Amino acid sequence: MTNRRRFLEKGLLTIPFLSNLNVFGQDSVKKPIVISTWDSGIPVNEAAMTILKEPKGRALDAVEKGANQIEDTINCCVGLGGNPDREGKVTLDACIMDEKMNCGGVAFMENIKHPISVARKVMEDTPHVLLVGEGARQFAIEKGFKAEKDELSDDAKKSYENWLKKSEYKPVKNIELQQNNAFEKRKGPFAPQFLENGDFNHDTMALLALDHSGNISGACTTSGMGFKMRGRVGDSPIIGAGLYVDNEVGACTGSGQGEEVIRIAGAAMVVEFMRQGKSPEMACKLAIERLVKINPKKARDFQVGFIALNKKGQYGSYAVNPGFVFSVTTAPGNGRVIKAKSYFN
Ligand code: GLY
Repeated sequence: MTNRRRFLEKGLLTIPFLSNLNVFGQDSVKKPIVISTWDSGIPVNEAAMTILKEPKGRALDAVEKGANQIEDTINCCVGLGGNPDREGKVTLDACIMDEKMNCGGVAFMENIKHPISVARKVMEDTPHVLLVGEGARQFAIEKGFKAEKDELSDDAKKSYENWLKKSEYKPVKNIELQQNNAFEKRKGPFAPQFLENGDFNHDTMALLALDHSGNISGACTTSGMGFKMRGRVGDSPIIGAGLYVDNEVGACTGSGQGEEVIRIAGAAMVVEFMRQGKSPEMACKLAIERLVKINPKKARDFQVGFIALNKKGQYGSYAVNPGFVFSVTTAPGNGRVIKAKSYFN
């Protein structure tokens, strides 16, 4: 046998073995995995992992369950316990997207505890993508969701009363919260982020999951900015801005000042950068740079943080200002919080 023939035969026989050793990059896929915004993402990821750990657990079910976890928690920024608008009403925004480009959202919805689950019903049971306000609420009730009482949580009430003293609309970016040790003022490690002086943060809960089958889904839920104008809707229920999933490539979501994210179609932009071959962190960085470029001076005064996950289970994040963190979980109980890099230091 010639050396060449021996080499070819050996080579061909070796291909399946080599492919198991990651020659084609497939075995580097880290799944399941769930990533989410902020350190409050740890219990959210844990809830999602109860689904993802099962061989047939679906990413879509996992992100809904994770979002429900925080919607059930009293938190200044998510769910009915959140900070109200200027009229004292809590209004909720959420959206969800699956591996087949199905998506649904609700915005400016009142009195319903689980906006993410209503968003899923919009996706699955209607020909539409987004329902808003009273229409969204009516739809939820028709679908069997309970209309909750119109009342503020104790913390939100205190916060609103304090805010009314000056009635000033001035979002506090998380960097200032950190400088004031506000994170330490929370009631527990993952407790609400109400500040005693009536200041507020706008920490959307957003998560992305990759399941055992290699499918990606995402969810995003928030009560939006505290003391916003009545009717204001941020990026969180807007597919392409607050959340985008393309199962061929990856997904992105984020937290922060929604107006700035909508302006650049943030989540879709990050996914497109990943499609061009950028790593999740680099994709987030390029979108943040685009956002800062619009008005570099103003960008020092707001926060936006993106998180992204690709098909291989690689993840990354980038923010405008320091202070943004995200949570990563790959098995029950192993969640960890990672500091995002930022444009400004
Ligand atoms: N990112 C949440 C909001 O702006 O409402």
